[in-house]
Amino acid sequence: MKTTLSAIKADTGSVGGHNRPSNAMLAKATELADAAVKKGLLSDCKVTFTGDDICFLMAHTRGMDNPDIHTFAWESFKETTAIAKSQGLYGAGQDLLKDAFSGNVRGMGPGSAEMEFEERQAEPFVLFAADKCGPGVFNYPLLSCYADPYHNAGLLLAPDMHAGFTYTVMDVNYTEADKVIKVKVPEEYYDLCTLLRDPNHYVVESVTHNASGLQGCAVSTSRLHNIAGKYVGKDDPVAIVRTQKQFPSTGEYLSPWALAHFTLGDNRGSHHVAVMPVKQNSIISYFDGPTIVSAAGYCVHEGKFTEAVDLFDQPFWDLIRTKASEKTLSIRAQGFFNPAMAGMDELEYTGVMENLKRIETKFEVRSVK
Ligand code: 13P
Ligand code: 13P
Ligand code: MG
Ligand code: MG
Repeated sequence: MKTTLSAIKADTGSVGGHNRPSNAMLAKATELADAAVKKGLLSDCKVTFTGDDICFLMAHTRGMDNPDIHTFAWESFKETTAIAKSQGLYGAGQDLLKDAFSGNVRGMGPGSAEMEFEERQAEPFVLFAADKCGPGVFNYPLLSCYADPYHNAGLLLAPDMHAGFTYTVMDVNYTEADKVIKVKVPEEYYDLCTLLRDPNHYVVESVTHNASGLQGCAVSTSRLHNIAGKYVGKDDPVAIVRTQKQFPSTGEYLSPWALAHFTLGDNRGSHHVAVMPVKQNSIISYFDGPTIVSAAGYCVHEGKFTEAVDLFDQPFWDLIRTKASEKTLSIRAQGFFNPAMAGMDELEYTGVMENLKRIETKFEVRSVK
């Protein structure tokens, strides 16, 4: 029997600005998750939050894109929205962008990352959840751990990984349908770099192990701006990665986050800051940020999860959190000047565009004599 892992997340409202869901919302989400396990829809479910986003991590046997699973998540988010409204919370229902739900959350606002597989004898995996950024935040760490032996020496040391990996990359600016490309490494490494260097346009959707065809990771790729046609909040993606044996070790997945790489997000989704690896259930603070990512390690066995190990809750990451703060403060000192603020093509708020339209009418073209 195959197990499916589905991580579906959404921002349905938060306390004190875009900071965190309320305890009442989380209690409702947990109650609904427990009921779905009791009913047999799910074999297990964990409810967590990262910043203002609630994530259902679900194990079940119904496969990917299953309407019952997606409907459960959608209806649950409607219930947490109702609580957010009743408490006067900010951004109640923020990520539920459409009314006519037709059995799949993709293209509706919530993010989903799903994987179906035969459980290995030991099935360790990590759920990464980020807030205040786009899905391209995973490009750099996923390039480093599956394709770059300079960062992941396991690619040289472990014979299981020697044949490399195949990435599925999505062009997230194409809104008519899913536009994807498969890129195999090490053979097409430079092509992969060429795409992933632009994380607001090309985003890793999944990665498979070349020798076995097994899927190693799944990333939610939704871009809310492209669904709604305007800024309605940041995408705040999740990723599930299977670890060990034919896949990178848990530590090899974590190590790229030590760079605290710059990403677009933070306040109003419009600023470049350094990603801070945080403990689970962390909140948002400085400048509606900084962009945060949490990592929860689990094993799944016959559809049941172990307790989580909070992978960024370790003294090593205190230094990285300080580094992320310093990098963020350093670029924030530049205020609205590019590249601290996003360039025109990625600017999420409309104010600058509207100002420019007005100012444009006052320009005079000087004739050359
Ligand atoms: P195992 O040899 O136990 O698989 O562990 C190796 C490892 O993951 C070190 O990073
Ligand atoms: P969220 O997408 O996390 O709601 O953040 C929105 C925002 O604009 C913060 O300043
Ligand atoms: Mg929000
Ligand atoms: Mg958010």
